[in-house]
Amino acid sequence: MASGTSRDVLGRGLRVLGRAIREQPRIFAVAVAGSVLFGLMVIASAYVVGGVVGKVVVPAIARGSVAGGVLALAAAALFGISVLRVVGIFGRRLGAGYMQYRLQAAYRRRVTRRYLDLPLAWHHRNATGTLLSNANSDVEAAWYPIAPLPFAVGTLVMLVGAVVSLFLTDWALALVGLAVFPALFALNVVYSRRMAPRQARAQRLRAEVSGIAHESFDGALVVKTMGREAQETARFAARAGELRDALISVGKLRGVFDPMLETLPSLGTLAVLVVGAVRLRQGAIDVTELVSVAFLFTVLAFPVRAIGWVLAELPRSVAGWDRVRRVLNATGEMPYGEATLDPATPTPATLAFRDVHFGYEPAEAHLPGAEVLGAVSFTVPAGKTVALVGPTGAGKSTIASLAVRLVDPGTGTVTLDGVDVRDLTAASLAANVALVAQVPFVFDDTVRANIALDRPGVGDEEVWAALRLAEADGFVAALPDGLDTMVGERGTSLSGGQRQRLTLARALAGRPRLLVLDDATSAVDPRVEAAILAGLRTPADGGAPASILVVAYRRATIALADEVIYVEHGRVLARGTHAELLATVPGYADLVTAYEQAEQEREQPRPYDEVTPLTSGLEIEVDR
Ligand SMILES: Nc1ncnc2c1ncn2[C@@H]1O[C@H](COP(=O)(O)OP(=O)(O)O)[C@@H](O)[C@H]1O
Ligand SMILES: [Mg+2]
Repeated sequence: MASGTSRDVLGRGLRVLGRAIREQPRIFAVAVAGSVLFGLMVIASAYVVGGVVGKVVVPAIARGSVAGGVLALAAAALFGISVLRVVGIFGRRLGAGYMQYRLQAAYRRRVTRRYLDLPLAWHHRNATGTLLSNANSDVEAAWYPIAPLPFAVGTLVMLVGAVVSLFLTDWALALVGLAVFPALFALNVVYSRRMAPRQARAQRLRAEVSGIAHESFDGALVVKTMGREAQETARFAARAGELRDALISVGKLRGVFDPMLETLPSLGTLAVLVVGAVRLRQGAIDVTELVSVAFLFTVLAFPVRAIGWVLAELPRSVAGWDRVRRVLNATGEMPYGEATLDPATPTPATLAFRDVHFGYEPAEAHLPGAEVLGAVSFTVPAGKTVALVGPTGAGKSTIASLAVRLVDPGTGTVTLDGVDVRDLTAASLAANVALVAQVPFVFDDTVRANIALDRPGVGDEEVWAALRLAEADGFVAALPDGLDTMVGERGTSLSGGQRQRLTLARALAGRPRLLVLDDATSAVDPRVEAAILAGLRTPADGGAPASILVVAYRRATIALADEVIYVEHGRVLARGTHAELLATVPGYADLVTAYEQAEQEREQPRPYDEVTPLTSGLEIEVDR
């Protein structure tokens, strides 16, 4: 890395530290005060030790007796200094710890908060593993130098104090200090510059390793069933090996510089003794002063390292901060409007798409985004059910996302009761529409918490009502603890169909005025699926039905819809009742029939399932 870039890292690192200080000025002041107190006491201790040697030890040797009064005074001074040093260390450590962990917590909150605010389009472009490492190790790395920072600032004050006191003692000894201290400082700077690229590389690899691990866990099922354990392990091992090499190169550099940083102050002490002996003979200084200065050089060596610690952590801090800032400054936020729909009226909503065009943002900015939807227009009238039918990749899920404003159209409008969804407040949108997605997501919590989501007005009664509508009351009642049953992470203790019905109940519990079902009951038994939809269209409690936009494949389900919209390649090709489309649109009839056949094959027992090993000795392994 060019030295210009390293200087850049130093400047940017100091700016990151400046930001930290601005955010926690009081705690920082406490920590620095503790550190300065410690530094001044280090200098004071050197002069007291010098004084003890010059005024007590030397006369004692000369006279053969110890002056009791002076000795007691020296002991009291050393004790007082020690107490103040302890107070200083305590203040510094406590302050630095508070500051570091408070900043970490604050920025973790900000980053995760930002994740929730950023639109789906942003999440599509960013891997989950990266997001995890942004909130975790990047936030930590950004604030690492905070721990030694107060120590380093106190040390700078101490060095200035030391040089001043050296000049007050003797100019020749002061020159030794002026040679050694800047050399120490320079060595630390060189060290941190060399460290910069190595630390940045290690930090990047940490994120990549975490990303690969996350992907493997996420795809555990695929990895196992496809027998890809070995490849996944190899992929992980390769990156983990790179991280190891990067960290070893960090260690090697430490191995070279640490001894130099240790040795320099010792050389300084040696120089003081040589120069001091000459000055002593010339009568320029006395024994007290010589011992004080020599001792000062010894005790200064350790605190000076604190400056090196801060400088060495700066590159990593800058790398971490850059990645954190990328999240905090990410654009593409979807601003909400000010309009509200009156959710108090329990009437269903009218959804309308007007000439909607949409394309996902390309993965790389220079590529053109392909159009996914072209001129899509349709209406879901209040209280009606509209089925979206079309082959995989036709754009059904995209239409569902637009309907609940997970994404915004490129051109055209999506309106709810005539109001552009972009003009609605976030709360109004959430109160009026609900999406049940293709892949059900269940929180690692109780059934009750999963459905109520802490929403006001959703008590046990409402939860049970929603479960009944979703045909889920039966299996929930049969669970060991009913509503209090914990469902595992991602609902692993539930079947796919049960998970889908729980997420449906969650949507229903909010009494949405528009319900969007994106193939949300595909894992539910076909008869139950039709029963759910029929129940939603004519609620048992006599209330108004919600308007429903449902992505469906099964004939029985589609047949319940008031209107079917047939999409292919992002365009509405036909609309009408199920019977009309079956009669007039060849692609539609083919699709519905093909799906039915596929499902029948899946559900019907294979012919040889009935064959027992006794009647056919060859059919021993029956794969159900
Ligand atoms: N996040 C995404 N980024 C880029 N392209 C996408 C994304 N999601 C879907 N697509 C593309 O948009 C088209 C429509 O997808 P989708 O709406 O999921 O179809 P359907 O639900 O009908 O199967 C497909 O060509 C698909 O590849
Ligand atoms: Mg889909």
